[in-house]
Amino acid sequence: MFILSLETSCDESAAAIIEGKKDGFSVISSVVSSQVKLHAEWGGVVPNLAAREHLKNIMPVVRKALQKAKLTAKDIDLIAVTNGPGLIPALLIGVSTAKALSYLWGVPLVGIHHIEGHIYANFISEKIQNLKFPLLCLVVSGGHTQLILMKKHLSYQIVGETLDDAAGEAFDKVARILDLGYPGGPAVSAKAEEFRINNKLKNITATKYQLLDTPLPRPMINSGDFNFSFSGLKTAVLYKFRQMNDGLSEKEKPLLISELATEFQDAAVEVLVKKTISAGRKYKVKTIMLAGGVSANKTLRQKLLKETKKGLPGVVCLLPEIKYTGDNAAMIGVAAYFRYKLNHKEKTWKNNWKKLETDANLKISH
Ligand code: KG4
Ligand code: ZN
Repeated sequence: MFILSLETSCDESAAAIIEGKKDGFSVISSVVSSQVKLHAEWGGVVPNLAAREHLKNIMPVVRKALQKAKLTAKDIDLIAVTNGPGLIPALLIGVSTAKALSYLWGVPLVGIHHIEGHIYANFISEKIQNLKFPLLCLVVSGGHTQLILMKKHLSYQIVGETLDDAAGEAFDKVARILDLGYPGGPAVSAKAEEFRINNKLKNITATKYQLLDTPLPRPMINSGDFNFSFSGLKTAVLYKFRQMNDGLSEKEKPLLISELATEFQDAAVEVLVKKTISAGRKYKVKTIMLAGGVSANKTLRQKLLKETKKGLPGVVCLLPEIKYTGDNAAMIGVAAYFRYKLNHKEKTWKNNWKKLETDANLKISH
């Protein structure tokens, strides 16, 4: 069977083709058209501009995904689309397109939760037969920071989450404070990387600074639960920057920016990883995973691998391939494949073009 999947929840218009087989699946094509340059001018995603671009790009990406897969409309057995959470004007373009195609082609339609997609991106390069439950996934994106426990496929229990800003949001805001540009996560992470290379620091965290005299806080690190808070950490960067920057020479100013970017990243990563390992221990998981846009962060990936090995012997740590860390449609198609395979209610998807709803605050459900 072939699945056509669409994703337009934020600022990427994406389409992909997944081939589903009895014992697995493969990603046949995955096309992403990014609007990053357009939104960079505004320092963040402008929902109506995003919708206008999705409208322009969605059919060309669908056509390209089909062409790359050497398939035509007649070959498609199922359509999958992100129906939330996300920006409503953006989501509606993907959902409307998917509904129209489902009606026209007479194929069933399934709505996929955006975070379910991010989670399933982990399975793209992994032999699914090797997967061991229970598993714990650290979800870190621009809108979410959650620890999700899965005892089986398609079953989600949120065991911890952020009480304020999402991790990606904090990276983006810190980039704005330090004037590092947009998108903020990759910019902060590139600064930190450059700082480590320039200072020949071998260790992935634990850093010596020339200017910063005190470390930034590690919020809620000893709170005893699995929740997070990043808003205070971002404010600490702002205060430190304001307090120190004016007294520095022009030569020292870029160094302060590098040190603050590095220390912020280390603080955020330390809290994320420590809580993931403690939750993994408490729930006796067999697999640890990472998902969402921030999962592209090199320090986070390395530290999670290292600490899983150290703190949870025998537990497998899976990381999504870099090309599937940001928003894409392949992850939506893979989640749809599992829903199709494991959820025998799929008959209800037949007339879903009439019923499928779009929800900006869609909750992840069983
Ligand atoms: O999953 P995603 O592409 O979109 C949402 O679902 O929100 O995540 C986007 C977030 C942004 O906040 C972006 O700055 C962050 O992921 N991000 C990173 C890195 N690459 C993207 N954060 C830290 N380090 C990175 N390398
Ligand atoms: Zn995302």
